[in-house]
Parts: sequence; C-alpha cells; structure tokens
Amino acid sequence: MRIDILTIFPEMFSGPFGHSIVKRAVDKGLVNIHLHNIRDYATNKHRRVDDYPFGGGAGMVMMIQPVMDCIEALKKERNYNEIIFMTPDGELFDQPIANQLSILENIIILCGHYKGIDERLREHIITREISIGDYVLSGGELAAAVVTDSLVRLIPGVLGDETSALSDSFQDGLLSPPVYTRPADYNGWKVPDVLLSGHDLKIADWRHEQSLLRTRDRRPDLYQQQKPDASSDNNP
Ligand code: ADE
Repeated sequence: MRIDILTIFPEMFSGPFGHSIVKRAVDKGLVNIHLHNIRDYATNKHRRVDDYPFGGGAGMVMMIQPVMDCIEALKKERNYNEIIFMTPDGELFDQPIANQLSILENIIILCGHYKGIDERLREHIITREISIGDYVLSGGELAAAVVTDSLVRLIPGVLGDETSALSDSFQDGLLSPPVYTRPADYNGWKVPDVLLSGHDLKIADWRHEQSLLRTRDRRPDLYQQQKPDASSDNNP
C-alpha cells in the first residue's frame, strides 16, 4: 500500500511515523508513506497556500492551486483509489472504514488547515471526507496520522501475529476482553482462575462473555447492533 499525505507541516509526522508499528512496516517495505509539503507547489512569490475568503469573514482558506498541482503531479505517476480530505464534517472514522481503506493500493490524504479548503477541491477532486471525531483539531495532520496508523496495522505481515489485528476491539463490533500477565497474584489482586486453567474452550467462552459485558456497559450503542445470537446466548 502507498499513502501520500499532503500537508503544510510534514515534520508533524516524524513522531507518529518514526516509532513502533508504523516505522517497522515502513522499514519492512509493507507500506510506503510519502509526505508532500503543499507549500512546495505554491507558485506565488511568497509561497502562500491560503487566502482570504470571498464574501469576508474570519479565517483563511486553503487555495486550490498548490493542492491541485501536487495532486495532479501524483496522479500522473499512478492511479489513486481514494483522495481523502481530513475534516471534522466528514464521515466518522471507524473500524469498518479502516478495514475498507487498508486493502486499497494507493491513497492520498489531504490535511486541511485554517478555516478550510476551497470548496471546489471538495466538489471536484476529493473522493472521500473523513472525521476522526466530533471535535475540531488545529489541522488535519493528527487526524491523518490516526487514520494512517489504523490502516497500517491491518496490512498483512505488519503485526507479528496475523490474528492480533482481527482480535482488536471493534473488529467484531465488540470491545476487547480484559487481559492479564504475570504475576498471577499481585499482593492479593488475582487473575481470574479460568485464564490459568489451560482449558482453551472455557477461556474463549469467558473472553467472549467479557467482551459482551464490557460492550454492554461501556458502549450500549455498539451492543444494540449485535446480532441477536451474539448477545442472547450469554444474556449478561
Ligand atoms: N481536522 C480538524 N479537525 C478534524 C477532525 N475532527 N477530524 C478530521 N480532520 C480534522
């Protein structure tokens, strides 16, 4: 998978992409992440990428030309499955969207700034608009890093244990069950007996039940969406 990120702050990504799973995936060649500074495409004297909004009002608007030139240059090289704009008024990002995007070949992610981007970019060139939550960030960079991280961990071979992305919270619409590690008894705080029983079937049943309980208590909205057979068998 190739991800091209268009931003006016490429250095913001060195933290999130320079460590852990994303870095390992990049180093292994399982994903190619390319950062493009939109300012490099500005043709005006001061390399401006924003301008005043027509009609007046507060805030600046990201101009079409530098963004368009950058996207056109990329599109000359390859086809893109999606050109995504990070924006608080986009569709709310969730695990099913992450799953959909993770199987694509090439995507562009555009990070907005200021008051927004010229609407004509959204009308004519953007294919998908994504929000990571109902709050406003200073720009799309952190949101793009969140989306990229969630996609990269789904790419086959990125996680050591192939099954671990599948057992993530939300993959089956449920939250993950609690986990424990050594010691089995920490000053009287004990690990549930079933996890020490060595009985795989009982452990799987316990984990499923805990997932259901946790989802019911913490995310009743997700719990409601469960198929009847998933929630009725344990009826917690
Ligand atoms: N840009 C600013 N806020 C954002 C949000 N919540 N999601 C995606 N992009 C954003």
